[in-house]
Amino acid sequence: MDRLLIRGGRRLHGEVPVSGAKNAALPQLCAALLSAEPVTLLNMPRLQDVSTMLRLLRHMGVGVERSDDGPLRIDAGALHTPEAPYELVKTMRASVLALGPLLARRGAAKVSLPGGCAIGSRPVDQHIKGLTAMGADIAVEHGDMIARLSAGRRRLKGAHIATDMITVTGTENFLMAATLAEGETVLENAAQEPEIADLAEMLIAMGAQIEGHGSSRIRIQGVDRLHGCSHRVVADRIEAGTFLCAVAATGGDVLLRHGRADHLDAVIEKLRAAGADVQAVADGIRVQSPGGAKLKAQGFRTTEYPGFPTDMQAQFMALDCIAQGTATVTETIFENRFMHVDELLRLGARIQVDGKVAVIEGQPRLSGATVMATDLRASACLVIAGLVAEGQTAVERIHHLDRGYDCMEAKLHGIGADIERVQA
Ligand code: EPU
Repeated sequence: MDRLLIRGGRRLHGEVPVSGAKNAALPQLCAALLSAEPVTLLNMPRLQDVSTMLRLLRHMGVGVERSDDGPLRIDAGALHTPEAPYELVKTMRASVLALGPLLARRGAAKVSLPGGCAIGSRPVDQHIKGLTAMGADIAVEHGDMIARLSAGRRRLKGAHIATDMITVTGTENFLMAATLAEGETVLENAAQEPEIADLAEMLIAMGAQIEGHGSSRIRIQGVDRLHGCSHRVVADRIEAGTFLCAVAATGGDVLLRHGRADHLDAVIEKLRAAGADVQAVADGIRVQSPGGAKLKAQGFRTTEYPGFPTDMQAQFMALDCIAQGTATVTETIFENRFMHVDELLRLGARIQVDGKVAVIEGQPRLSGATVMATDLRASACLVIAGLVAEGQTAVERIHHLDRGYDCMEAKLHGIGADIERVQA
């Protein structure tokens, strides 16, 4: 397995392009299943998870054409196998996003149950409950969710769906399914993440009737069919946030081209409170920082958008490890998302975890060591820690990083980091 070697201590300067968002791209690839006409997606990030989703679509009989950097064309006209097998689902939980579109377009789907996950138990009970309210019968057999329209139904029906908690991919599944359902669907307690709004914009470009996306109440009037469209994937706010934390920690001056400051309010507010200068500029975000040792540690609590994102918790914690003072971080979304803590301790960080609360006591220095990535955002946290640690840090198991960051080491290298990938 590949590893990253990082020699810490370099300040970062220059410009980094922010890629399309992983968590917008994945549902949008599934949304292409809703139409028999081709869909073109622009700004598709080069990620392992995107490759996995494309394999899944091809398995279903969907045509996929991709030039190296150009648009991705997806043609689900000849969709013949409405199935997501375990081999693909187990490597990427977002495969569950195929369930809603397949039910809506084909009236049947077989999608493997995802099973366990490193960051928490992550059940899909809400997905099942909501789609059942829309007229699906979903049974679990041999590890697969076998979904069909209930007896006598020819298509899904509109429903009033109020989930027990806010779920991002749940909201996306319902939104996609509802576009082709009979009548009106109202989603209460809907997720408000920018990726939901971006998916809704794509669906509207396909002819869907949607109102209220970006708020907690979304209304969808079902239509008979959706047509093809061309859509540009929104910039990745988590990739941008990760680079903001990296530059804040190392010190320097970097422009994140295409970054959306308006999607990162909670993170930017904390970075400013810490002492970094973060500004929205034309088509990007500029960050200037004297370096982590001159910043003040900041506590936060992860919550759903527009709150502080759980997907930024690990990266901000790396910054807190070398800032002045003590910070308390509370993770409220996933029950096991502190796996990076033990690895940070190997670098000399001082952190105590009690349940969902971590207390970080900033240290004047970290010292490089070999550490192991455990999930996507934990990997990014260890890269940031490596950029500021004295000496060499080796981050192992970076296949996790490749799932969700588009050429991270090349982008960091481009702004002055001493980082290289060593192939196994
Ligand atoms: N939940 C349930 N039942 C459900 C659905 C969710 O109990 O049926 C719980 C989860 O266990 C969790 C909470 O509800 O405690 C929120 O989970 P959510 O469904 O919102 O998470 P998700 O849709 O599976 C997406 C992102 C994650 C991100 C979370 C939270 C995608 C493909 N994934 O996951 O991204 O952390 O929302 O914002 O959009 C990442 O990119 O590193 C990543 C993990």
